[in-house]
Amino acid sequence: ATYSSYESSGNVKNVTRRLPQAIIIGVKKGGTRALLEYLRLHPKIRATGPEPHFFDKHYKKGLEWYRQQMPLTKSDQLTVEKTPSYFVTKGIPEKVYIMSKRTKLIVVVRDPVTRAISDFAQLVSRRPDVKPFEQLALVDNRTKMVDTSWTILKIGIYVKHLVNWLEYFPLRQIHFVSGENLIKDPAHELKLVQEFLGLEPLIDHHYFSFNSTKGFPCFRKHANSSKIHCLNNDKGRTHPSVDPSVIKRLRDFFRPFNARLYQMTGHNFGWT
Ligand code: A3P
Repeated sequence: ATYSSYESSGNVKNVTRRLPQAIIIGVKKGGTRALLEYLRLHPKIRATGPEPHFFDKHYKKGLEWYRQQMPLTKSDQLTVEKTPSYFVTKGIPEKVYIMSKRTKLIVVVRDPVTRAISDFAQLVSRRPDVKPFEQLALVDNRTKMVDTSWTILKIGIYVKHLVNWLEYFPLRQIHFVSGENLIKDPAHELKLVQEFLGLEPLIDHHYFSFNSTKGFPCFRKHANSSKIHCLNNDKGRTHPSVDPSVIKRLRDFFRPFNARLYQMTGHNFGWT
């Protein structure tokens, strides 16, 4: 269904809901909300607000349901959604491929150890009674064996998930964003994402302003506007302190997987 909307100029523009041409598929706690909110600043991008969770929770409702979740777009605008669980959920690469093998995929990655602690901080905020991080991360305290069945750690083995996507999509169709750099230099990461999406690089340093109280970048909705928006307080939580020996154990655990990710993507994300 195509609708007409009247712009202030009086021009009639045809707008319609379209399936997403690009999806931020992961990773949870990588900075996916920040990236989507930044991309939304671009006039050629329209994005969903909430995470649609179509491919993991609502797939049976069909593509028409999915399309109805999308914002109205003009013919020259890209539709983007983000659902970070897609990256790590079995069977989704094939489902996205069936929708369109041309779908552009974006993954925000972040040091898997920090990511795990961030994910844990979110868990604590919802269930204050959870066991300590150290206890959940190790099978037992004596052997210091990492509990690889803990979802919060499994998510961080990025290379393993990537391999599943590469069965259906060529690497050039998957763009990786450094979650660390998205905080340090959002304009640079945005430049790369806009290039990947084939868009004019309109979102540049003029949009961003580091908020030292929040400790994160905040942004303007227009390059020259004076009003600054920050993400909600559930983004940029204080992390619990974790026993350094457990951190070291986890760093050792993830190191070979990280190395394989760097090798496969040709990008060193600098996690040590
Ligand atoms: P922390 O809460 O651990 O700091 P996601 O949106 O994928 O859940 O990612 C949340 C993470 O985004 C936050 O994790 C934070 O580090 C990161 N982030 C990146 N840019 C941010 C911004 N401008 N404001 C707040 N958090 C930001």
